[in-house]
Amino acid sequence: MSKILTGKVAVVTGGGRGLGRAFAHALGAEGAQVVVASRNQTDLDRVVAEAAEADYKAVAIQTDVTSEESVNNLVQQSVDHFGSVDILVNNSGVVLTKPLVDMTVDEWDRLVDTNLRGTFLAAQAAARQMIAQARGGKIINIASNFGLKGIPNHTGYSASKAGVIGFTRSAAVELSRHNIQVNAIAPGYFVTDMNTEVRANHDLQERILKTIPARRMGEADELSSWIVSLAGTASDFMTGEVIVIDGGQTVV
Ligand SMILES: NC(=O)c1ccc[n+]([C@@H]2O[C@H](COP(=O)([O-])OP(=O)(O)OC[C@H]3O[C@@H](n4cnc5c(N)ncnc54)[C@H](OP(=O)(O)O)[C@@H]3O)[C@@H](O)[C@H]2O)c1
Repeated sequence: MSKILTGKVAVVTGGGRGLGRAFAHALGAEGAQVVVASRNQTDLDRVVAEAAEADYKAVAIQTDVTSEESVNNLVQQSVDHFGSVDILVNNSGVVLTKPLVDMTVDEWDRLVDTNLRGTFLAAQAAARQMIAQARGGKIINIASNFGLKGIPNHTGYSASKAGVIGFTRSAAVELSRHNIQVNAIAPGYFVTDMNTEVRANHDLQERILKTIPARRMGEADELSSWIVSLAGTASDFMTGEVIVIDGGQTVV
């Protein structure tokens, strides 16, 4: 029986672990052929092996999203391997918790280069391919609720994610005439390597949980169904939107 993403090729940056790994598996379970991309080949190979066990096709392409050459190679190799790029999940990201007055320029650049420049480079390369294919496409950017609210010690991260939201809205308007929908998800706290230090610090974790009406962090699978919806026909008349999924943290 055909699944909702059968015949589609999805590229997931940061697909080797954390949220991206869950997104890759969710897209594969709905019939997509999946390309996972990040810097760590061992992580990527593990996801490809898991995909084989789950009976969907995946390929690993080692990629640094801060490099234009590397990202262009990712899109070209995806096309060489599976024949098209129909869905891009722009998920690679890094975080840094540090007071503004202590942050170095290199630290700022690393946040902005990975989270914002990486989003731009991958979206540009994928959009060029989608336009050439002339059958539309879906670009899903993973922002953060920190891009929507004031958070101490996260200026670089917040700025980069607010940039992702602005980029999403403008790219959505621009690419609409090519039937490419561009939407963003803004997660709150989800259990991944990104917040290992927070979860290891009991007092800090308790303080954070008090700011979340749901009083817990999310699990990756609680985002995956939204990724699948944005990747499929459910989003055909929806573009430039930012879906906040954070247990209520932003609305309090
Ligand atoms: N977890 C949360 O609470 C949370 C909340 C809001 C938003 N987010 C966002 O969700 C996304 C996924 O985060 P996560 O929680 O899954 O974190 P994670 O487990 O630390 O994963 C981050 C992923 O990004 C990849 N990455 C980092 N730098 C890269 C680069 N230069 N080129 C290619 N890939 C790179 C990493 O792979 P390599 O290091 O191997 O390259 C890894 O696969 C990020 O954009 C993050 O900002 C997460």
